[in-house]
Formats: sequence, C-alpha cells, structure tokens
Amino acid sequence: ITLVPNNSLLTATPEEGRQLAVKMARLIVKLTQPDEEKRNQLRDVYGNDAMMLIAVGQTVATEFATIAAANNYWRK
Ligand code: HEM
Repeated sequence: ITLVPNNSLLTATPEEGRQLAVKMARLIVKLTQPDEEKRNQLRDVYGNDAMMLIAVGQTVATEFATIAAANNYWRK
C-alpha cells in the first residue's frame, strides 16, 4: 500500500493538495484496517456520528497542513 500516491507531496494547486490530503487520510485507514468488510461496516458508524466526522475533518486538515508547507503554500 502506497501512502503517498504519486510519491510526492508536491501538487499544482491547493485544491489538488486538499484531494491528496483526503487520499492520504483514507490510505492510513486502509493500512490500519485491511479488512474491506470491516471498513464497510464502520463506514456506517462514522458516517452517522457528528463527532467522528469532525475528527475526519481534523485528520484531513493535519495532512493538508503538511502538504501546504511542502508546497511552500503555493506561493509564486
Ligand atoms: C467513503 C473519506 C475514514 C470507510 C469515504 C468517502 C470519503 C471518505 C471522502 C466518500 C467516497 C465517495 O463516495 O466517493 C474518509 C476520510 C477518513 C475516512 C478522510 C479519515 C480521516 C474512514 C474509516 C472507515 C472508512 C475510519 C472505516 C474503517 C469508508 C468506506 C467508504 C468510505 C467503506 C465507502 C467506499 C465506497 O463508497 O467505495 N470516506 N474516510 N472511512 N469510507 Fe471513509
């Protein structure tokens, strides 16, 4: 399992950086719970729990902060 899909944290735009952050967060979940059936069960759990969805947002924000720094905040 490849945790950084394109093997680089560099992205053309902030939006692509955000998408990479989501991808990385999801891959960590897949790495820690390889059982697809289990993940399908848990999808229902976190999808219906506001606090868990906020935790998802926080996790993605942390990944995005790292990606943004690696891209020098997309400054020209
Ligand atoms: C679906 C993000 C955590 C299992 C999704 C989708 C997103 C997403 C964006 C919608 C995909 C789509 O319909 O196009 C995330 C993020 C997570 C996270 C950012 C954590 C930071 C988890 C966890 C589980 C899980 C903890 C279960 C262990 C699933 C499953 C789906 C799903 C089974 C449905 C996949 C599908 O429709 O093919 N997730 N998720 N996710 N997630 Fe998560």
